[in-house]
Amino acid sequence: MTTDHKILYDTEHISCDYAARDYLDMAEKTFIEEFSKKLTEMDMLDMGVGGGRTTKYFAPLVKNYTGADYAPYMIAACKKKYGDSYKFIECDVRDMNSVSDNSFDFILFSYNGIDSFGHDDRLHALAEIRRALKPGGIFFFSSHNLNWSGLYGIFSFRAKEGSCFSLKKPGRLFNLLRLRYLNKSVSMKRHIKKLRKKKAGHIYDNSLNGKAGIYYITAEEQVKQLHDAGFNITATYSRSGIKTDDEEILDSGCWIYYLCN
Ligand SMILES: C[S@@+](CC[C@H](N)C(=O)[O-])C[C@H]1O[C@@H](n2cnc3c(N)ncnc32)[C@H](O)[C@@H]1O
Repeated sequence: MTTDHKILYDTEHISCDYAARDYLDMAEKTFIEEFSKKLTEMDMLDMGVGGGRTTKYFAPLVKNYTGADYAPYMIAACKKKYGDSYKFIECDVRDMNSVSDNSFDFILFSYNGIDSFGHDDRLHALAEIRRALKPGGIFFFSSHNLNWSGLYGIFSFRAKEGSCFSLKKPGRLFNLLRLRYLNKSVSMKRHIKKLRKKKAGHIYDNSLNGKAGIYYITAEEQVKQLHDAGFNITATYSRSGIKTDDEEILDSGCWIYYLCN
């Protein structure tokens, strides 16, 4: 199955929602602390910039900043929010024909934007990112963790309301049944087990109001995928910002951040 979320992201409503976001994740803060001195020398591409959540924090720190997104509504929202202060371009990461080889020192693809499409497209995206990076350039991104210890829990009736995946109480039974239908599985436990054997696959997890199948991958498989695309992994971070390769810590979170060059 391949999924393409452009139709879901490219709306006024979703772009306004993303443009209203104004915070950094702990892992992004850790990254900035670690790289604050080097960032001043870097040409940065903020891929899948959405409504510019990260722009406010990264753009003033780097030498040149470009925000990119394939959704015209997202780019319009960034331009409205930041005026002419920074450059924003419409660009699909899977085919960055407007970006020359060796253009950037640093590419960020935050908030699991890379999980928005199918497996083959993901490999194209990695190859394009590699091409757009200067030799020695760095790539920092997050991705959904297929080995997340809480993954079964989001399909449970007892999922805590208020958690990022929780299904609101009214209609919860309907939504849970709907997710089972979309995942083509009566038992989500069995479905997740099957995907874990394959080390990657799509899950309807209620993201984008349950309309989007999201790519989940184990850390081990993500590292392999990056190696195959020509990257060296330099670090992994938990969503809570801990730099670690300890599986237990990484698997306690729904996302993992990868730093590579
Ligand atoms: C989950 S949102 C995150 C937005 C923003 N980075 C943030 O952290 O708030 C993912 C973003 O990636 C963009 N995106 C998804 N697939 C893309 C692609 N193939 N090329 C460029 N942008 C893409 C979407 O339009 C969306 O704005």
